[in-house]
Amino acid sequence: MFDAKQFIMEKVGWIKQEVGDEKAIAAVSGGVDSSVTAVLGFKALKDNLTVVFLDDGLMREGEPEAVTKIFRDMGIETKIYDVKGNFFQAMKNLTDPEEKRKAFRQTFYETLANAARELGVKVLLQGTIAADVVETVRGVKSQHNVLEQIGINPLQKFGFRIIEPVRELYKPEVRLVAKELKLPDSVVNRRPFPGPGLSIRVVGEITPEKIEMIRKATKIVEEESESLPSFQVFAVLLNDKATGVTEKGERAYGNIIVIRAVDSKDAMTAESTKIPWDRLLKMKNRIVSEIQGVSRVLYDITSKPPATIEFE
Ligand code: XMP
Repeated sequence: MFDAKQFIMEKVGWIKQEVGDEKAIAAVSGGVDSSVTAVLGFKALKDNLTVVFLDDGLMREGEPEAVTKIFRDMGIETKIYDVKGNFFQAMKNLTDPEEKRKAFRQTFYETLANAARELGVKVLLQGTIAADVVETVRGVKSQHNVLEQIGINPLQKFGFRIIEPVRELYKPEVRLVAKELKLPDSVVNRRPFPGPGLSIRVVGEITPEKIEMIRKATKIVEEESESLPSFQVFAVLLNDKATGVTEKGERAYGNIIVIRAVDSKDAMTAESTKIPWDRLLKMKNRIVSEIQGVSRVLYDITSKPPATIEFE
């Protein structure tokens, strides 16, 4: 049986030993993995740890404010960097999912390296978990936070070494640690959200308009699925159009949004959730009435395998 209390004790000691008297940074996203990592780091390093939030413009609505509040309530200050422009610029014209991930990763670490230089820090605490590494090494998807396994030396390339206190854990254990650390339930139970955020929920090239559209759809499906036991529930904007008709009877050639909900234990395999029909209809009604330019809403019934959880 996994003992979260014991894990915390051991990891806090391990972080102290690994970092010594050096200063470190931890980048948080609002998700459970990076939050647990930052709190473990804070317990071990206190003022020698700076918690940063990179506002990349690819997050869910209200994320920067929500994250800052969660950490402030725990007595930890967060430094926010507004780096939205960097990410849009880096992903401009890219359509291939792996190219998008690569550009995201490069920009993410360059931005962190700038912050680290400014703060005089050479150690990064990162919340990589076991599933991130497995998927990347298998070559399914190169998750942005896995570097050494694909031959990137962070010290040489970005000027910091990386310490990963939760890298042997899977999601269920990370949640137990989060609970033991007294993180709020909203974080403990938070559904996974990918590092590259909404950029991989827009199939093909991203634009600020498309990101805004998927941000609205994400908010709607999240609001309408709070009580569902699904592992993940989200929306995807396809890189395609479908013919529709307006209430006035005029032709409309509009966007297609997919709703995806999956049941899973650790993201390695997944089944499509049997969402109650009336709930799906409510999501569809809100999407077509609250987001301009959507002419079709689809529900994805594919399991993993043969699909993956995300579209990209
Ligand atoms: P897939 O789509 O591979 O997703 O079945 C498995 C889990 O990983 C998340 N995911 C990512 N997380 N960076 C991340 O930090 C990524 O590039 C990435 N791609 C997928 C996905 O949301 C699911 O929970």
